[in-house]
Amino acid sequence: MFHPQGPTFWELARQALSSTQRGYDLLAPKFDYTPFRTPDPLLELVAPLIGAPQTIDSAIDLCCGTGAGMKMLRPLCRERVVGLDFSHGMLDVARELLSEDPEKAKLEFVHGDALNLPFENEFDVAVCFGALGHILRRDETTFLKQIAKALRPGGRFVFITAHRPSRLSVIYWLARSFNAAMHLRNAFLKPHFVMFYLTFLLPDVTKLLEAHGFHVAIHESVFPKPYHQACVVVATLEA
Ligand SMILES: C[S@@+](CC[C@H](N)C(=O)[O-])C[C@H]1O[C@@H](n2cnc3c(N)ncnc32)[C@H](O)[C@@H]1O
Repeated sequence: MFHPQGPTFWELARQALSSTQRGYDLLAPKFDYTPFRTPDPLLELVAPLIGAPQTIDSAIDLCCGTGAGMKMLRPLCRERVVGLDFSHGMLDVARELLSEDPEKAKLEFVHGDALNLPFENEFDVAVCFGALGHILRRDETTFLKQIAKALRPGGRFVFITAHRPSRLSVIYWLARSFNAAMHLRNAFLKPHFVMFYLTFLLPDVTKLLEAHGFHVAIHESVFPKPYHQACVVVATLEA
């Protein structure tokens, strides 16, 4: 459907009828052939906003999937790069794609829930790419509290988002229609598949982050077309 080696329409449909976790387990072997994987060229433009090579001790990639964020973070880190995901299938692929190298920061693959992190005061940087749509609005506070707990004082939470699209735009109504279809699916089918658009958008996310003790810097015009409307948020925890 997306790529000759990517999932077929029916495979995607089967995944969407499973739980979020099981859906990603099924998608894992073909995930890197879908547009859901954050492209490396975009992440290469995010890296300099985080730091120069070897200037950070440790970082975590939340909802790491097949390891897109881990791959970008590794050259920036001196000690440790953790990838956390609740899909064993996605973690297995990440492990295969990112090999150990004693010369580079140590990699750790952790099976866990981004809403219940087993870390406290451990990371200089946390990133989350392509997965904020999996955090329900009612869980946003829990999610940010967990990140603040995992970061060291002065630590940064970095992610890609966009400004809320105009209600007159096609993209806004496509996203609303997708969300309505998901609500309908979840009203009738269990387990739920959690995936919604129009979450963690600017300007609202700034207030949310500030309420959890972060100072917010927004980097615009970072990406070329067709991603030019996306922004990078660097939210720094009070030291
Ligand atoms: C679209 S993929 C993005 C993967 C990767 N970050 C990237 O940008 O290519 C979303 C990932 O989030 C994971 N995920 C969703 N909700 C999660 C949660 N509550 N805790 C941990 N992982 C979660 C899924 O298993 C999946 O691997």
